[in-house]
Amino acid sequence: MQEITLHDLEFIEILSEKHLLESIKSLGLKIREEYYDKYPLVLVILNGAFVFAAELIKYFDFPLELDFVRYRSYKGLHSSGEIQKSLPFPGQIEGRHVLLLEDIVDTGLTLSVLTKDLLDQHPESLKTACLLYKPEALIYPIEPDFYSFQVENKFLVGFGLDYKGLGRNLRNLYQLKPGKKP
Ligand code: IMP
Repeated sequence: MQEITLHDLEFIEILSEKHLLESIKSLGLKIREEYYDKYPLVLVILNGAFVFAAELIKYFDFPLELDFVRYRSYKGLHSSGEIQKSLPFPGQIEGRHVLLLEDIVDTGLTLSVLTKDLLDQHPESLKTACLLYKPEALIYPIEPDFYSFQVENKFLVGFGLDYKGLGRNLRNLYQLKPGKKP
């Protein structure tokens, strides 16, 4: 297992790129079945979900629109408990089948605020897909409709996820090493 250091912390690999890509492929094919005739609006939550989204949409061989929203809740290793919205909704939501793509569902704050904001605009349907789901960390009453992996309640980096700006470009997924929290 590969180990890496980002800033002051050490991380150990928990999922290889190969494993991540295989799982995203089966998730993509499953989601495809639901959306191939719906001309969905796929909304990617920046920053973290861009790698997951780029891989997932390779299996969406049907017409769709794709756009981005930026909702931020994490500071360093923890959820700040507040949402910073810096990119407003693009385009029209009303009447659309919206699929939200998130990197990781942790406390559920980001997804619950975004879901409420979207539902206020009356989409025809709204579902969420994420790469990683930490059910033990969940505080807000929301669960992703689709996900690739359930993970422990530990801090992760790589494959789009960062620690203080570093690690998004790593191909594998890494977990904070035990006892390495400052
Ligand atoms: P939530 O709002 O608490 O569900 O957290 C969702 C957001 O926090 C994600 O989109 C990530 O940007 C960030 N996040 C949550 N857990 C982690 C993690 O383990 N590593 C890096 N970022 C995380």
